Amino acid sequence: MAKRLEISFVKPASPTRGCAVFLVAKKLDLGEHAAAFNKKIGSPLARASKAAGFDGEARKTIEILAPAKSNLGRAVFIGIGEVGKMGETDWLRLGGAIARTLRDDTEATIVVELPGKGEVTPDQAATLALGMVMRNYRFDTYKTKTAKKAPATAKVRIQVASPRAVSASWRAAKAVSAGIELARNLVNEPANVLGPIEFAERLTALTSLGLEVKVYDEKALARQKMGALLGVAQGSRRPARVVVMTWNGGKAKDRPLALVGKGVVFDTGGISIKPAGGMEDMKGDMGGAAAVAGAMCAIAGRKAKANVVGIVGLVENMPDGNAQRPGDIVTSMSGQTIEVINTDAEGRLVLADILTFIQKTKNPKAMIDLATLTGAIIVALGKDHAGLFSNNDELSASLTGAGLATGEKLWRLPLGAAYDKLIDSRFADMKNTGGRWGGSITAAQFLHRYVENDTPWAHLDVAGTAMASPSSDTNRSWASGFGVRLLDRLVRDAYEKK
Ligand code: BES
Ligand code: MN
Ligand code: ZN
Repeated sequence: MAKRLEISFVKPASPTRGCAVFLVAKKLDLGEHAAAFNKKIGSPLARASKAAGFDGEARKTIEILAPAKSNLGRAVFIGIGEVGKMGETDWLRLGGAIARTLRDDTEATIVVELPGKGEVTPDQAATLALGMVMRNYRFDTYKTKTAKKAPATAKVRIQVASPRAVSASWRAAKAVSAGIELARNLVNEPANVLGPIEFAERLTALTSLGLEVKVYDEKALARQKMGALLGVAQGSRRPARVVVMTWNGGKAKDRPLALVGKGVVFDTGGISIKPAGGMEDMKGDMGGAAAVAGAMCAIAGRKAKANVVGIVGLVENMPDGNAQRPGDIVTSMSGQTIEVINTDAEGRLVLADILTFIQKTKNPKAMIDLATLTGAIIVALGKDHAGLFSNNDELSASLTGAGLATGEKLWRLPLGAAYDKLIDSRFADMKNTGGRWGGSITAAQFLHRYVENDTPWAHLDVAGTAMASPSSDTNRSWASGFGVRLLDRLVRDAYEKK
């Protein structure tokens, strides 16, 4: 597959070069141009479909090589299932499946039309294109032997009835796709390359989108009395950073929505060190921060009419002579003290201080944190839902809705006084672990103690969804970019004033 897809939207015309892709609904129902093309090349579809047992099922394909009376290398007919049942995620997955069929083609034409009278909307066409780009993503920076074979770019012409109508939707979708790419790159990148400083540098580059980006170094964090975050960082040679990204696209007086991300660039567990098996996955322990960065990139890139502030806490959790110990008591920026029972429960320590910081400095109207926080959430929900915890039913409902719309699904778990009690400490205000049971819930309870004045807050535990991702129609990479589309959609549907 080509490294980059150069996508353009054009008017329908009979495709002449490379590979052409046509949509086929159930019962081999074709749109006008697909039907005309099939006829022109001698109507092979019916017979080929019978031979292959193809009936237009969603994302299945039939390929006709070197079709007669045409210069095309291949014609691909791809199933879309039942037209009336196609939702947003179906269009996205269709795009992914189309990108799969392109292989090493350098020119492709995608004929996007529906059988019958229905027209494809601009959003649907743009979503299909986004699915193609998402599927085409590769992280092969460090492959010196195989990556060069694929062509650098492929020209993809997407035929739609009114190309100009798609341009606004496509501009927004491209911004989202840049956000997804950024998030995936950050998560896939190894920790020797991406420490807190390098992560912060990549975020500083986002100023080109009109974002205001402010980086706080370890001295500034000490001045802010971020004892919990700095306690985690002190075992690493590489100093901590906190980055605040501000997008002011809304009304001047509107309080911002705050997006808060755990950015542990590598989590060894610290002195409570993790077992060796699978520890390499802990380079992805900044998946929450990557999603926040990606969402800010999307929101700024499409010039969202909302005020949104993103904050990430970037640290490395290492065991060395200066590392914090189990039993240490740290004082968080909020003034609350924490007994560190297990140095591997570090994410909540980082989040505690950046939650306090963002509330003190930006007075947000709501906060959403994303964190690869607990292995227990993978036990509970596997890889198809992220855990959702919230003190606010309305925010919860908007997030759940955005999850269903984008396919980045959330499942709400409870909070409550009985769980909260489990993190009371003998020596300090709280301890950083609550025992074996309900591990994701007690982690959320810990964060809840850093939410001031009942500010609407939601915590998304993305340990199962941000990394080590199963292959899907729209992603073949280890990092999924989970959260970027979700947050972008939430902002669009719940925070932008139309
Ligand atoms: N980063 C891990 C959680 C994690 C596990 C993320 C697997 C992705 C995949 C987190 O910092 C952690 O170590 N959590 C501990 C908490 C425990 C010590 C209370 C865990 O889940 O075991
Ligand atoms: Mn940990
Ligand atoms: Zn961690």
